[in-house]
Amino acid sequence: MTSKWIFSGLALATFAALSLSACTTPTPPAPVALNDGELALPADYKSWPKFLSAVQRPDAKQVREIYMNPVAQQGTAAKGFPNGSVFVMENYAAALKPDGTLQRDADGKLVKEKLVSVFVQGKNVGWGEKANPALANGNWIYSAYTPTGEKSSVSTDSCRVCHLPQASKDFVHRYDEYFNTRKTSAWHTPQVVAALNAPTALSVQDVVALHTVR
Ligand code: HEC
Repeated sequence: MTSKWIFSGLALATFAALSLSACTTPTPPAPVALNDGELALPADYKSWPKFLSAVQRPDAKQVREIYMNPVAQQGTAAKGFPNGSVFVMENYAAALKPDGTLQRDADGKLVKEKLVSVFVQGKNVGWGEKANPALANGNWIYSAYTPTGEKSSVSTDSCRVCHLPQASKDFVHRYDEYFNTRKTSAWHTPQVVAALNAPTALSVQDVVALHTVR
């Protein structure tokens, strides 16, 4: 055997060993362990599904839009939200009348004005380990941004303090509201909602028929 053959044999063996190790990598690497303020504002969040829209906060003189990433969308009322979940909340000032009171539209809703801040909340394995243990929110972490996407100086401990009482709801405010809304929109067409609210009793057949109307 010439040295040329030995060399290409070695090269082949090295290639085979490398390919084999690539194929047998057991699990993807663990996510980088982030802490408060380190979760970036996702560039594409406006294309995410809505968690809740036009949340009315007359007390704070704000209207809020809440987005969830597709991982969070897999959450269930029974199990909460999986690791990898991210929420983004846009906080808009509500329009005021010249006398300083809140303006309302024809439906009595607050009128959205300019964006004042953007809040991000995400969870993953090992996240939030540097947080004050008394304020641990599972493995959720918090970041706050200005309307132009710069990091804001708001203390993230304040986020923890106010989300902490929601521990039984995976630290997510309006958890019940979301899961109830989702159930209604998935199962109840407008016809079904109207029928359920109607005073007359419906037969099983009526209900089945209504659920198949699209
Ligand atoms: C005074 C209480 C309070 C504080 C402080 C607070 N939040 Fe919240 N947060 C809420 C409430 C209540 C909601 C539900 C929406 C609403 O009613 O405005 C919410 C909703 C959210 C949501 C949408 C997902 C969810 O959990 O419902 C995100 C994201 C969020 N907050 C992030 C933050 C961040 C980041 C901070 C700190 C910079 C923060 N919050 C501080 C009360 C608070």
